[in-house]
Amino acid sequence: MVQTFNKVNKVTGTLSLSGDKSISHRALLISSLAEGKSYIKNLSENDDVKSTINCLKALGITVESNEKGFIVNGQGYKGYRQPLNPLNAGNSGTTARLLTGILSAQNFKSVITGDASLSSRPMKRIIEQLTLMGSSIKSTNEGRLPLNILPAEGLRTIKYNLLVPSAQVKSSILFAALHIDEQTSVIESIQTRNHTENLLDLEVIRREGKILSFVSRRNYPEPKEYFIPGDISSAMFFIVLALLTKNSGLLIKDVALNPTRTECLSLLKRMGGNIQVEVKDSSNNEAYGDLQVKSSNLSNVKIDKEIIPFLIDEIPILAVAGIFAEGDFEIRKTSELRVKESDRIKALCSNFSLLGLNVDEFEDGFRISGDVKKTTQPFKSFGDHRIAMAYAILSSLLESGGAVEGFECASVSNPDFLKQLNSITL
Ligand code: S3P
Repeated sequence: MVQTFNKVNKVTGTLSLSGDKSISHRALLISSLAEGKSYIKNLSENDDVKSTINCLKALGITVESNEKGFIVNGQGYKGYRQPLNPLNAGNSGTTARLLTGILSAQNFKSVITGDASLSSRPMKRIIEQLTLMGSSIKSTNEGRLPLNILPAEGLRTIKYNLLVPSAQVKSSILFAALHIDEQTSVIESIQTRNHTENLLDLEVIRREGKILSFVSRRNYPEPKEYFIPGDISSAMFFIVLALLTKNSGLLIKDVALNPTRTECLSLLKRMGGNIQVEVKDSSNNEAYGDLQVKSSNLSNVKIDKEIIPFLIDEIPILAVAGIFAEGDFEIRKTSELRVKESDRIKALCSNFSLLGLNVDEFEDGFRISGDVKKTTQPFKSFGDHRIAMAYAILSSLLESGGAVEGFECASVSNPDFLKQLNSITL
């Protein structure tokens, strides 16, 4: 589907977004493990979160919804039922990797599959460490999906130095380790998002510049209530649009403000963005609050490699902000972008080239310079939700508007994007 976007003249109004995708997955998985009913308010209902719900249903977990939110009837320690068919994680890396951690501790065999994009993404990074813990996981596709997870014959604890700075890899160990009596520790040299630790209320310490998280069966969850704050990664598309549109002001309410996710806001502020952040409260250790955004003149700044894991999902929209900002936009040490829902370095460089910008592509990043010269062809989504929405915003900022081919994949993280865009723009 080719979706066209007209130039936006003004951004105004208020948005409340549905729950953060990373927190939504984890609230569902943790609730499915606890014995009894957990209640989840403002759960995201995007395609990725639906994949997690469908996998849990296939494992014998009841997930229902009413006007107040979702109710998950968890089955307690090793209470999953053996699935009759392969579990389909769809497009969702978080579903596949976190669920593999849990399934590797169960007493039955299971299989995880996914769509074409997910089936091309690396899974060795979780297979290797879960194998160190004693699980038996076979890939029939060179370290990619489908994964055959064989019954666990007693997992053992590890002290694991996280080699790839990935919250999904870290969380797969933490979820497996919940099933072991003795303590497992995960050591990070570069911190990644910490939602699993927050929702399980794990002990986390800093020592000699590293971050250590500890987990054992003592941390096995009880049923509880969750409020999932609005998705900050979805908010970023509208924040950049409001910053770059003249005479604009936007209020975004109750958005997730976990410090391991707000580096994208700090970067925009360093670029000159007028963004007021008000932390209001927290739920299950996850902070949230309101953002007030006003039109601003932006300038590009240096992006340090240490902050990359904190803003990895926002790089497509930050690059869009970068081409409208003073100076060149350059980002390096981002090879992880090559193994996301698409090869995002390639996708971004190819779309920016359509505008006649100077594009330098590197193995680990890219630099964009020059001015927008032409805008004839539609941008391509590459089947990647964040690329689709980044170029929807870019199109809305161009004098002549623009179009995005394959826009429907936006529903992977935000099925309400078009409705929300229309509600705040003139
Ligand atoms: C996620 C972690 C990140 C992020 C993804 C969601 C999570 O992936 O890109 O969209 O929920 O843990 P990595 O941990 O692989 O970097």
